[in-house]
Amino acid sequence: MTFEMTDTQVAPPRHIAIVMDGNGRWAKKRFLPRFFGHKAGVDALVRVVQACIDRQVEQLTVFAFSSENWKRPSDEVSGLMGLVLAAVSRYLARMGAMGVQIRIIGDREAVPEKLRKAWNEAEQATAHNQRLILNVAFNYGGRWDIVQACRKAIEAGVPAQELNEARLGEFMAMRHAPDPDLFIRTGGEVRISNFLLWQVAYTEFVFSDCLWPDFSEADLDRAIAAFQERDRRFGGVKAAGAVSAC
Ligand code: FPP
Repeated sequence: MTFEMTDTQVAPPRHIAIVMDGNGRWAKKRFLPRFFGHKAGVDALVRVVQACIDRQVEQLTVFAFSSENWKRPSDEVSGLMGLVLAAVSRYLARMGAMGVQIRIIGDREAVPEKLRKAWNEAEQATAHNQRLILNVAFNYGGRWDIVQACRKAIEAGVPAQELNEARLGEFMAMRHAPDPDLFIRTGGEVRISNFLLWQVAYTEFVFSDCLWPDFSEADLDRAIAAFQERDRRFGGVKAAGAVSAC
């Protein structure tokens, strides 16, 4: 499906961020180990990537593994690492053909060597693609991002009096991306969970009860429609004459 804008439609979000929550519950409902929920979650991600391309979304950022996910049982952590590694080799060519540029954000130090290499290869192989940038947040935390940006700014010798939002932004993991317009969290929880803390200052939030593996194109369209109804003022006020009585 191709999304075509008419005169009356508000522009679609340029950048969507998603917390893909609910994989474990999806598996539990089917009496399956949690791993199978994550596996179905990868399929949902591939569907949503295509749907975002069809809707002319420019960047999609997904939370694949948080700085805190190491607290999960070791078999789930190693299962997730293996699954992601398998997904990279299975889908890399397809993502390339779809025009997807893959970028990884997060602390790569603690990630197994094999996966680090696979991420590097995926980034290099897709660096020239232009249709959609897929930012995969892996071993990522919003607080980690702010701290690593401060560290880099200090290492770069930025004087304290010159440090402002724009300057610090140059060191953030998502410096190549505009701030997300729309933040979607599936799975029914209503929290940020240390995702893009710096970048979501003026992002519109949509929370869905849908479990991530079930998230469909229709759910994405509902989230985009909700976004298009929002009145974004970025801390300012509406233009004169456009104010309605409450
Ligand atoms: C949260 O659901 C989901 C995760 C921690 C993992 C999400 C990862 C993927 C979908 C794989 C991404 C793959 C690539 C290649 C980027 P949960 O386990 O917390 O679910 P629950 O809340 O129902 O327990």
